[in-house]
Amino acid sequence: MTQPPLIYGPGYAESYDEIYLHPWRRKHEVNLRLLAGLIDEVPRAPAGWVDLGCGQAWQFSRFEGRLHQLGIDLSPAQLARARERNPRARFVCADLRTIDLPAGWCSLVTCFWGAYCYLDDTEEIAGLIRRACHWLRPGGALYFEILPPENLAGFNDSEFAYGTGFRVTPRGDDYGRWSYEDPGGRHLMTSPPTASFLELLGPLFGRIDTVHTGFMVHLVASGRCAPGAPRAAAAEVPPTRAGGER
Ligand SMILES: C[S@@+](CC[C@H](N)C(=O)[O-])C[C@H]1O[C@@H](n2cnc3c(N)ncnc32)[C@H](O)[C@@H]1O
Repeated sequence: MTQPPLIYGPGYAESYDEIYLHPWRRKHEVNLRLLAGLIDEVPRAPAGWVDLGCGQAWQFSRFEGRLHQLGIDLSPAQLARARERNPRARFVCADLRTIDLPAGWCSLVTCFWGAYCYLDDTEEIAGLIRRACHWLRPGGALYFEILPPENLAGFNDSEFAYGTGFRVTPRGDDYGRWSYEDPGGRHLMTSPPTASFLELLGPLFGRIDTVHTGFMVHLVASGRCAPGAPRAAAAEVPPTRAGGER
């Protein structure tokens, strides 16, 4: 699987902040607010935070020294910048398809900016989520920024898409499989519907919150149940809305 290392080379990594960090103020404000709440509430000892497809790991740098931070990404260029930015965090260059950790190893697992979409296969994505849930100790939380297929057409109407000319294109009848063109090239992505995340996570967590910022949904599952003691009913899903993208 060569797509991310080829796209996320040194040149693209250099332009990443300009394209995907600075213009998205609203998304990142919500992201930091949700993270601050989770970091305060998840159990300590072990207090690990695993960020999947961490890229340059700017979120770690905003919570330096809070939890033991482990970033996983397949791009050496992204990780080189992540290490510079976060000297106290640990990073592993590995594929999200195969990475595994011991059960109960951490308190928080995150995956931001739809990094899971690069697995480009619904079963691979489900497998990653199942493994991530296994790594969490009871009381832990999982936070994914997801790109639901029904929201993706909205990207092409965003101020950002108008300004840059970057577009998303369905690879079928809907945006379950899609591609995205930007200066990195053509990104091949898969977006399972929100319901499939809820189906996987609902029985394993005490609560699920969804916060919408434009086409992005911040999906936060908290209160990981003890393994072997799943909840009888699906977790609570109180819908919340945080308004426009920027
Ligand atoms: C859109 S960027 C998101 C980076 C970061 N999470 C953020 O919020 O800025 C997607 C990241 O996922 C990484 N990635 C894509 N596919 C991957 C895979 N199969 N295994 C590990 N990392 C992957 C890419 O290298 C890239 O850094």
